[in-house]
Amino acid sequence: MNLLFIRTIEGRILAGITMFVGMMILVGWVAINEEARMQAFVQQHTGRSIERGAELFASLCSECHGEEGYGAGDRAPGLNNPHLFGYDPVGLQTAAVTNANRALVRLNKSVDGLLAELTDSEEPPSEERQNEIVAAIADLEAQIEEQNMAIAGTVAERIAILESLDTAVNNGLFPLWDTVVDIEQTGDNEIEVFFNTNGTRLAQVGWAGDLQGYIVTTLIHGRPGSARVYPNSTGMAAWSQTAGGPLRQDQIEDLAAYILNWDKGAGWTTEDFIAVAQYGKPLADGSLPSEPPPPPAGDNVEGILQRWQAEEVIGSAVSGELLYDQEFGCTDCHRDGASAPDTIGTAARIRDERLTLPQFADYTLEQYLVESITRPGDYVVDGYSSGLMPVNFGARMTDQQLADIVAFLLTQ
Ligand code: HEC
Ligand code: HEC
Repeated sequence: MNLLFIRTIEGRILAGITMFVGMMILVGWVAINEEARMQAFVQQHTGRSIERGAELFASLCSECHGEEGYGAGDRAPGLNNPHLFGYDPVGLQTAAVTNANRALVRLNKSVDGLLAELTDSEEPPSEERQNEIVAAIADLEAQIEEQNMAIAGTVAERIAILESLDTAVNNGLFPLWDTVVDIEQTGDNEIEVFFNTNGTRLAQVGWAGDLQGYIVTTLIHGRPGSARVYPNSTGMAAWSQTAGGPLRQDQIEDLAAYILNWDKGAGWTTEDFIAVAQYGKPLADGSLPSEPPPPPAGDNVEGILQRWQAEEVIGSAVSGELLYDQEFGCTDCHRDGASAPDTIGTAARIRDERLTLPQFADYTLEQYLVESITRPGDYVVDGYSSGLMPVNFGARMTDQQLADIVAFLLTQ
């Protein structure tokens, strides 16, 4: 309405622009707030889960793991604990020594190569070349010296850190430390291996998954035999109703949320290490209950593609190549097109030849590949007889493995 009163064309344009900008600001404002509203909602949800977890922890767990989760003497390990959260107090130093050792191997190899050339009696090097070799070796020796100094410095740093953590070491941080330092003959290499495999609790127990999975699995199954390792404790029971315990799955997840909420990321300090009253020990029977293996992909092509989208499964061509070559032996048949269509050119062949066929009119490349791998009998490539390609790959691989292989084939 107002526009009618604006006489000049410039005035109308200006009014139009003003209204447009105003609307964009409004839309933007709503969008920003929607995001904030969603975040607030997620935070509230997690917040409530942590609160419920805290209550459960106080009534069920604190008698052994301590009110603040620091653990108690020979009763149970600390959970409010940088080592459990994967914070390795000497991780940087261990990595630096490993790298320097790798560089040393490289440098020594180069020296060996040059020495062999220098002393080759069958093809003795020219005098000029001899001088070059001698100079190059001197240069390499200097670099070797440098790396050795760096290693000595880093090892000293690591000792200083361990000394500052003396209380923690006494409370069981690095439980096997004594066995390594006591043996006089322990080589440098064994000490490095020790730090590499003991820097974090999950490395120590050989858990390949993440911490949330470790906590949940421990709660579900308990740790049979742990009373033997912790003499003042009756041991870690199986808490899940599925294993005869009192807790539902959502309560177990609340407890995990509460424990995970102790994480300080990169902000853990020496004080935090010292606050832990009891660190984890080697496991009673040495073995962990494993997480249930992920279900196989199966052969429902549409279902597979939907799960990939919903669960954001992204294939890795690098892993895919390994799976294709080794684990599933696809290459055995698909190499050079000898007994199956050639691996090389797969993506282009499917796009330019297969997908132009009427029955694949609405297919995507991925859909064709998933179907070829999980249901090879549905369409048999001209010139090959059906039944050659095994039909059970869908039952043998996980969604992730299948996605990796498809990602690899898309690069071919
Ligand atoms: C009766 C004592 C006791 C109670 C109660 C108890 N635990 Fe434990 N818990 C242990 C012991 C002992 C271990 C060590 C087991 C091992 O190392 O094999 C342990 C281990 C754990 C671990 C693995 C820690 C690690 O470093 O490996 C987690 C996580 C855990 N308990 C959580 C809980 C939660 C959550 C509760 C409460 C629902 C709880 N525990 C109740 C004794 C107890
Ligand atoms: C025993 C031999 C054999 C093995 C092992 C095998 N394939 Fe095949 N594959 C074939 C044959 C033969 C065909 C063509 C006939 C057909 O379509 O079934 C084929 C077809 C295909 C096609 C369709 C190619 C096109 O051009 O349309 C794909 C994709 C494929 N295989 C992927 C795989 C993957 C991935 C693996 C391993 C997980 C594998 N194959 C293992 C024999 C094999």
